[in-house]
Amino acid sequence: MHVLQVCAEIFPLLKTGGLADVAGALPAALAAQGAEVRVLLPGFPAILAGFEGGTELARLAPPGAMAGVEARLLVGRLPACGVEAYVIDAPAFYTRDGGPYADAHQQPYPDNHLRFALLGWTAARLAGGLDAGWVPDVVHGHDWHAGLAPAYLRAEAEQCGKALPPSLFTVHNLAYQGAFDAAHFGELGLPAHYFAMHGVEFHGHLNFMKAGLYYADRISTVSPSYAREIQSHEQGCGLDGLLRSRAHELEGILNGVDAAVWNPAADPLLPAPYSADDQAGKARCKSALQRELGLKRAAGTPLFCVVSRLTEQKGLHLVLDALPGLIAQGAQFALLGSGDAGLEAAFRAAAEASPAAVAVRIGYDEAFAHRLIAASDVIMVPSHYEPCGLTQMYGLAYGALPLVRRVGGLADTVADARLETLDSSATGFVFEPFTSEALAGAIARALALHRRPADWKQVRQRGMRQHFGWDSAASRYLALYGILAPHSAPYPPNPLTAAPDLPWT
Ligand code: ADP
Ligand code: GLC
Repeated sequence: MHVLQVCAEIFPLLKTGGLADVAGALPAALAAQGAEVRVLLPGFPAILAGFEGGTELARLAPPGAMAGVEARLLVGRLPACGVEAYVIDAPAFYTRDGGPYADAHQQPYPDNHLRFALLGWTAARLAGGLDAGWVPDVVHGHDWHAGLAPAYLRAEAEQCGKALPPSLFTVHNLAYQGAFDAAHFGELGLPAHYFAMHGVEFHGHLNFMKAGLYYADRISTVSPSYAREIQSHEQGCGLDGLLRSRAHELEGILNGVDAAVWNPAADPLLPAPYSADDQAGKARCKSALQRELGLKRAAGTPLFCVVSRLTEQKGLHLVLDALPGLIAQGAQFALLGSGDAGLEAAFRAAAEASPAAVAVRIGYDEAFAHRLIAASDVIMVPSHYEPCGLTQMYGLAYGALPLVRRVGGLADTVADARLETLDSSATGFVFEPFTSEALAGAIARALALHRRPADWKQVRQRGMRQHFGWDSAASRYLALYGILAPHSAPYPPNPLTAAPDLPWT
């Protein structure tokens, strides 16, 4: 089974969020179960810098307004990601100051529709046999950046009259849709009739997410709860009708934790290793972090943390509201994040007001994220919505009990600590209403449990022993690929990771 993953970022080379973690971990997990995976990426400088042995496979001649751009398709390897890759080398599109999607002032690049149309178009070319030595059986696109891949695939199949490989489109975040002015549609080289309600049009705009959802042969998203939620008016971002109409072709597959990156027993970024059985090193991590941040050095003081993009999605204004109460109850708080300028300023001000109890680091720092989660007793993820969420799972693995809102993947991964669950399933703290009072209530429950060290230890140990491996997600994706492309080479069945609960079995 040849699988072409199409995405815009990949850990550890280029990451703006959890999408990169998924793109970095999934290929190896699929390969472990017999699939041959290659990744197609835009040639951002960070990707090209990590690309080895890149040889030119083809000069690309994309249609429409992309035609003028100098673009080559390179094939080689991304050793840091352990995967073979195709990279689109188009400096005019991808070599820019700023991030992959927006400039240094967070302004989206005005030609994003072309930059990511080229990604989707190239995926369709590969599906059509551009690399005679490696033709995918399935094209698996991630998020709006890859949304046009299924549309170009369909267009190419219609045009050449032959069957092309099927596609799977995975939604990581329905709120980011890649919506552009309708005038840009004519620049893409897609058939004119694709700009329709049954196509890439959405409320008069060109919409890449809609294109993926409409043209892909199957759709998945990153947790079972989010798969249900996006079919509702409240969380469907306007696309719930389309998602409901495809409900039988939509599945929620929970992301995993890459144990090669997130494992406190073997994490080179930590001052001391530790595990569920021997947690002594965690205390050293905490003391080292308190020193690093200038927090009061107190082993028994519960330390709460946040590691997050600072956006509305993450519900962090609730944390700001709850912060005075948290400190008044004797706890400490540390945040690592960047994004919204107002949130950045508000958290900075909170740290300045209580430097012994609150520390805030604005920025993006992978190593510090590991140290902070390892040092913390609780990690807070009070999101308004959360397709899957990875930091709560990293918290579980690192013995930082997740305190989360009951939504999306958070609801699927954290079991609330209540009296009746303490001895059986509890792994963290879950609250429901999206209010600071509800968050404060969960904080109070966390602090009450923390005052009972034996119970705390039991819950922490249970959390650390949870297994959120990529193996089960990989076997579910493979089952989906198998449905989409039943005649491609079978992968070796793995009785240990076979998914027993697929809705159609
Ligand atoms: P999202 O993709 O919505 O941002 P996830 O929880 O799925 O949320 O993934 C976030 C990823 O980004 C995690 O790997 C987390 O550790 C990382 N991360 C978020 N903010 C930062 C930051 N400021 N510095 C380092 N890593 C961060
Ligand atoms: C998105 C979501 C997050 C998810 C990640 C990886 O960024 O916001 O919940 O974990 O994608 O799938």
